[in-house]
Amino acid sequence: MTDRTQRILITAGPTHEPIDAVRYIGNRSSGRLGHALAVEAARRGHHVTLLLGPTCLTPLSTDFRTEQFRTTADLADLLDRHWPDHDGLIMAAAVADYRPVTAKPATKLRRSGGLTLKLEPTEDLLAKAAGSRRSDQWIIGFALEPEDRLESSAREKLARKRIDAIVANPLQTMDADSITASVYFSDGASLATPPEIDKADFAKWLCDKVLPKF
Ligand code: CTP
Repeated sequence: MTDRTQRILITAGPTHEPIDAVRYIGNRSSGRLGHALAVEAARRGHHVTLLLGPTCLTPLSTDFRTEQFRTTADLADLLDRHWPDHDGLIMAAAVADYRPVTAKPATKLRRSGGLTLKLEPTEDLLAKAAGSRRSDQWIIGFALEPEDRLESSAREKLARKRIDAIVANPLQTMDADSITASVYFSDGASLATPPEIDKADFAKWLCDKVLPKF
């Protein structure tokens, strides 16, 4: 158990994958959970970099550095740039699973023509960060899952992405005020939050119970 000051990279918010100049594929992530983690970790003296997707949150903070992204590819570039300089990664961003194969960023598609989208899977950024990490770096991922297979899906992702811990929470958490989560660790251990805590309290809980393990 350590309480040392760490350099922590946190991602938050959705990605937007462009369809044309004005439309995109996105999701309902508000970014509040990742943002609350950045605020709390910085308050405890950690050096925090927040990579923030398109949200209503104000990116300005004097307590930590913030860089903004829009697409999964933008976030991939920021991770390539910042991950080597950090001790830990908390991947709270709701990264798109698919993006349009051919986006038309310079035009606005017309309704009269109809629209059929062909989508391709995005790169798994968490697995990529895990593949390039040094032995002294740790990684926490997130899994938003239906209640009935919360634990099994989270444990499967923990192993598949080769990360150290995963925060599993039910689908209703997205864009909600509160969270009820379980954290599963690669050594088989697990921890559960009290039920229905708000996201600022979740950030405190994670800093108290999970960060000291790394
Ligand atoms: N994630 C990522 N890159 C992606 C998709 C997800 O880094 N292209 C990260 C998320 O930030 C989260 C974790 O992986 O920390 C789990 O995301 P999730 O969407 O639940 O998992 P997937 O890898 O998309 O698996 P599945 O499609 O089977 O749900």
